[in-house]
Amino acid sequence: SDIYRAGISGTRPAVPVAPAALEEAARKTLSAEAFAYIAGGAGAEHTVTANRAAFDRWQVWPRPLRDVSERDLGVEFLGTRRTSPLILAPLGVMELAHPDADRAVARAAASLGVPYTLSNQASLPMEHVAAAAPSGSRLFQLYWSSSDDLNRSLLARAAASGCEAIVVTLDTHLLGWRTRDLDLAYLPFTRGLGIAQYTSDPVFRELVRQRAAAPKSDASAVKVTPTAVAAALSIARKGAALTEGGRLRDNLRSPLPRAAVETFLDVFSTPALTWDDLAKAREWTTLPIILKGIVHPDDAQRALDAGVDGIWISNHGGRQIDRSVPTLDVLPTIAERMAGRVPIVFDSGVRGGADVAIALALGATVVALGRPYAYGLGIAGEQGVREVVRNVLAELDITLGLAGLTAVAQLDRDALRAV
Ligand code: FNR
Repeated sequence: SDIYRAGISGTRPAVPVAPAALEEAARKTLSAEAFAYIAGGAGAEHTVTANRAAFDRWQVWPRPLRDVSERDLGVEFLGTRRTSPLILAPLGVMELAHPDADRAVARAAASLGVPYTLSNQASLPMEHVAAAAPSGSRLFQLYWSSSDDLNRSLLARAAASGCEAIVVTLDTHLLGWRTRDLDLAYLPFTRGLGIAQYTSDPVFRELVRQRAAAPKSDASAVKVTPTAVAAALSIARKGAALTEGGRLRDNLRSPLPRAAVETFLDVFSTPALTWDDLAKAREWTTLPIILKGIVHPDDAQRALDAGVDGIWISNHGGRQIDRSVPTLDVLPTIAERMAGRVPIVFDSGVRGGADVAIALALGATVVALGRPYAYGLGIAGEQGVREVVRNVLAELDITLGLAGLTAVAQLDRDALRAV
């Protein structure tokens, strides 16, 4: 009701409320490269479309005359009572959207009591983000590095900077075939964007030092992935796209030394990673561990058997596999198999409060928001993120009440009709 009241008093919102208008406003505000990176998906982007289409297969029943004057959006997540079932998904390289990047996102999230998942590829070291919003609830997302020492160091820093849990993202052991990025000759990471967690890390710095000192033949032992080759060819073909004007150039840091870029490419991903390796995370941290990027029900089962503290159903917002299984389609089966034994985080394709209600009704414990908050950040910084998140929460609250319910916990299959 605060949002309506502000509207009546003539206070105009900083960001468009409708999801499509929000995306369009971001497209107009951001540089072509930044928007391509944020909005884009893998291949022909069938998965991005499929994630949305999966929501079309469910509808919410309107149920009047049930006294819904008091409503409670609260849920328990990771042993703590939260005021809402929403969290922010980890988004890397947010300096592309706004110079305040993760700092602005962390502040907006903290002001709304919404947990924030800080990305391994954030634009600021996690300690800086923690200092910017000390009261906020934070999770740290890890991309499992080929360097165990680096993994251990990042997890230790996450604990020391007050993160409540570790989210290990499993679906990016190879970077997806990101067609828009390739076309724009833009590969953020190799240009030194989004690697602040590394460059602020003593283990990473030591790896860079060793590489710089190594004889040339050793130093060239970098794993060259097909994606990196394609990106390099694309850059060569299109010329120096990074020297184009606009916001992107303003946000660009000076190029990293070659040894640092090579070390980044070397440590970023581990296509050889297996379930057995994951057990090491338990030795490295006492924080709860959540596995992100689970889509197959058998993998959810395996995660449960491995004793993880939570699973995060995600197809990375359709950025990894073109024609991936959309996440909402598998949520009911996975929720049934988990039977409440571990919390389920859900993402990919959530754009509004009614989407959140559907995911909760199908078994999610909490729902994570991705691209929409990046659009808010790009348009209006911290205030933009705050408005986007508030709008989703407000729509969820209204949807709950119009469905005749007074608490998020009451959302179940009876609230929905399958189409
Ligand atoms: C991501 N995502 C992501 N995931 C992750 O584990 N670590 C990361 O650094 C990133 N970075 C990232 C950047 C951008 C620009 C996007 C759009 C996405 C995936 C993200 O956490 C989440 O799974 C999806 O964004 C959810 O889909 P929607 O809500 O964007 O459709």
